[in-house]
Amino acid sequence: MARRKKIYEGKAKILYEGPEPGTIVQYFKDDATAFNAQKKDVIEGKGVLNNRLSEFFMTGLNQIGVPTHFLKRLNMREQLVRSCEIIPLEVIVRNYAAGTMSQRLGIDEGTQLPRPIVEYCYKDDNLGDPLVTEEHIAAFGWASQQDMDDIVSLALRVNDFLSGVMMAVGIRLVDFKIEIGRVYDGDFMRLIVADEISPDSCRLWDIETGEKLDKDVFRRDLGNLADAYTEVARRLGVMPMNAQPVTKPTLIN
Ligand code: TYD
Repeated sequence: MARRKKIYEGKAKILYEGPEPGTIVQYFKDDATAFNAQKKDVIEGKGVLNNRLSEFFMTGLNQIGVPTHFLKRLNMREQLVRSCEIIPLEVIVRNYAAGTMSQRLGIDEGTQLPRPIVEYCYKDDNLGDPLVTEEHIAAFGWASQQDMDDIVSLALRVNDFLSGVMMAVGIRLVDFKIEIGRVYDGDFMRLIVADEISPDSCRLWDIETGEKLDKDVFRRDLGNLADAYTEVARRLGVMPMNAQPVTKPTLIN
């Protein structure tokens, strides 16, 4: 059997050449990183959970007409996606203050924002993904004004969808990050939601207790990350059925 060609290896995923032109296989690793990879660990089962959760969110988005790169899940850790040209921006939508916004502006974490706020960070690990404005994006040609209008509209539709899905299972969507890709259909270029949507790239708080069910559990040493992600998957009804147990069984005696 021919060896698959690895296209790219990132912090949490590996991309391989797909079976047909224009497709990519996205493999979810168990590696967790935070603070620009200064903090690292392997969280058994995280890749399996994020593969399922990203499938769940992307499929839902496709069904309501928000285009995404997701084609189908292949196995426990891999999904087939459409290859696209990633715009070098982390598009962040915030409903409540947290993380860097709280630090920058001195707003208590959990404060509801007057309306969803969209922010952009330039994707460059060496620079620590700096916050940029639409002026930078236009001036450096990362995206056009038309692209920016489409990106805001996609980001807000993803926000409405995710907020609703999460609220239905007692979870507050505090903020999240998406990445956007370009695909070409003949003479036309379209923007689609790419990368992943998972608790690695969202802040999710239990509505009743405020318990964190996202990567902050790892960033801030608040407990077991796989347990938190399993809880999100359980509430959404997307438990990996024939998966290896995510937490190791406890041996009695
Ligand atoms: P933010 O508060 O800006 O940064 P941090 O996660 O370092 O505190 O992040 C806002 C949301 O976007 C949060 O849910 C994490 C997510 N995010 C990523 O997943 N990757 C990124 O590179 C950035 C900048 C944010």
